[in-house]
Amino acid sequence: MNRSRFLGLFQSGFGLLAITPSLFIACKETEFVAPELSEAELAYLDLKNKTKETGFHLEGKTLSIDLTHEKYSQLQTVGEFVNDLEHYILILRKSVEEIVANSNCCPHLGTINQWSYDGSKFRCGNHGNSYGTSGLNGFSGCSSGRNSGQLKQYPTERNKDIVTIDLSS
Ligand code: FES
Repeated sequence: MNRSRFLGLFQSGFGLLAITPSLFIACKETEFVAPELSEAELAYLDLKNKTKETGFHLEGKTLSIDLTHEKYSQLQTVGEFVNDLEHYILILRKSVEEIVANSNCCPHLGTINQWSYDGSKFRCGNHGNSYGTSGLNGFSGCSSGRNSGQLKQYPTERNKDIVTIDLSS
């Protein structure tokens, strides 16, 4: 290597060294900062994690279900329902916005597994009685002998595709 080539390389290296500090400053300024999540977003992520295996998470009398899990995915369609025999509830996609949860215990004689839905009422196939879904306050009690009225309804809350059902009442 001749002297002038060596000096040329040295000068270009020195030039790079001279701009390097400004490169570091630029990197610091564009450092990734995670966005702060709201409490609702954190609660949602927590429940997504807790429901990912079984589709649900039960904490005391509070049941959370994930509408994207195969166990509950029917509820993405209006008019469809899931008879959740494990938790004794009928969960109905009543409209685009509304998901309701009712007791699956028939007010007549307590049958839990013969339900169909006709678009406005649940019908128990055991003796053919039909019941509405609006029993948040007044309802026909489980196995009370009533052959009409409303099924007991449980309060629900929705956070994106997670539905939380309060079974305490
Ligand atoms: S048990 Fe349901 S209609 Fe009789």
